Amino acid sequence: MQNNMQHKLITWYQENHRHFPWRENENPYNIWISEIMLQQTTTEAVIPYFKRFMETFDTIDKLANASLEEVYKLWEGLGYYRRAKHIHETAQIIVEKYHGEFPNTYEDILALKGIGPYTAGAICSIAYHQSTPAIDGNVLRIISRVYLLKDNIALNKTQKKITDIVKELLIGYDSSAFNQGLMDLGATICRPINPQCDICPIQSHCLAYAKNQQKVLPINIKN
Ligand code: ADE
Repeated sequence: MQNNMQHKLITWYQENHRHFPWRENENPYNIWISEIMLQQTTTEAVIPYFKRFMETFDTIDKLANASLEEVYKLWEGLGYYRRAKHIHETAQIIVEKYHGEFPNTYEDILALKGIGPYTAGAICSIAYHQSTPAIDGNVLRIISRVYLLKDNIALNKTQKKITDIVKELLIGYDSSAFNQGLMDLGATICRPINPQCDICPIQSHCLAYAKNQQKVLPINIKN
């Protein structure tokens, strides 16, 4: 029986994860659309938009053949409309360049419009179970606390250090459950203010908790 942090986080995720429509299958198209919608929008707000979008455009081909106006119409109210334009253009590129199949390497996915390292990492891990970190503010906060890192998380070099820590943690574990476990932990327990350490599945691994520094970390100083 494994007793390390990864195992505890993954088991907690499997037993307690939040139920979202984009977690019902691992189709890369489905994961791509959800991750784009979730970039600047809360999970609650995304749910109805995601459902409507996937019902209307159930394949990449259908999305590529739709007009931009139709895509904008489904995006109305979600904000950051450039995302809709990028999705539409990207669907056409996927049809032309990848025969309608969503690409399956980190590099090819990162090269698509509107996709940065976080989104590429999330798609590769959730849709393909590739060992890619997905580092956002939640992960920077959780790792700073668990490892008692006093580095400023606003700095690139801190983000690189945390990315390396997560890459190491992922080795040998299901990256989809691990990364989504971090997302859920950050959203529900290891919150920025008033973290719920008493119910945290990785409390025994958390150095900040051991030293009562969970409310002090992370250090986040933007210039
Ligand atoms: N935020 C970004 N990606 C997410 C996902 N796959 N599940 C829940 N929240 C998210």
